[in-house]
Amino acid sequence: METWNAILSRRNVRTYSDRPIPPDDLDCILEAGRRAPSSQNWQPWDFVVVTDRDQLKRLSTVAPYAGHVPGSVATIALVMGDFDDAGKRETARFDLGQATVSIMLAAVDLGIGSGHATVTDQEQARRVLGLPDDRFCAYLIALGHPADRPLKPIRNPARRPLEDVVHRGRW
Ligand SMILES: Cc1cc2nc3c(=O)[nH]c(=O)nc-3n(C[C@H](O)[C@H](O)[C@H](O)COP(=O)(O)O)c2cc1C
Repeated sequence: METWNAILSRRNVRTYSDRPIPPDDLDCILEAGRRAPSSQNWQPWDFVVVTDRDQLKRLSTVAPYAGHVPGSVATIALVMGDFDDAGKRETARFDLGQATVSIMLAAVDLGIGSGHATVTDQEQARRVLGLPDDRFCAYLIALGHPADRPLKPIRNPARRPLEDVVHRGRW
């Protein structure tokens, strides 16, 4: 798929077929995350990949809107440091966002859907993922081939019009 088509086709996919994700495809998706840019190249992320069905079920309990996680073929937990410094925390979250988009675009390029989930219960996340005390799980990215419809360019996305969003030269 062309990059532009991947951008047009990405959407949150929350129902997945049983079709396995080939290990090379999963590695490619993770590599896309690893290659994401970050502030001063500090790479504040670790990725925990979960594929076991029971563990996926337990993982879905760490977030209020993660009903799609148990049916995923794999879910990537994005893990970062539990920084006290607000600036570091904000920068790390920005960088994790960059990794997220790279992961999602690499997935759609392979015909694989992805869905975010915000994590709220850190104690449970630490238990399910075996994280050290100085780390926490910021987001989950569930993966799998879409069960609803294939990934195709979306003609009319639910987005504010370009002329509302873009300010040329000045606000
Ligand atoms: C930071 C962030 C957190 C999100 N958290 C959740 C979530 O917990 N559960 C969920 O189903 N979707 C979640 N989403 C997906 C958004 O609802 C979705 O991206 C948005 O509605 C636009 O839809 P689209 O991704 O299909 O274009 C999250 C997205 C972002 C960027």
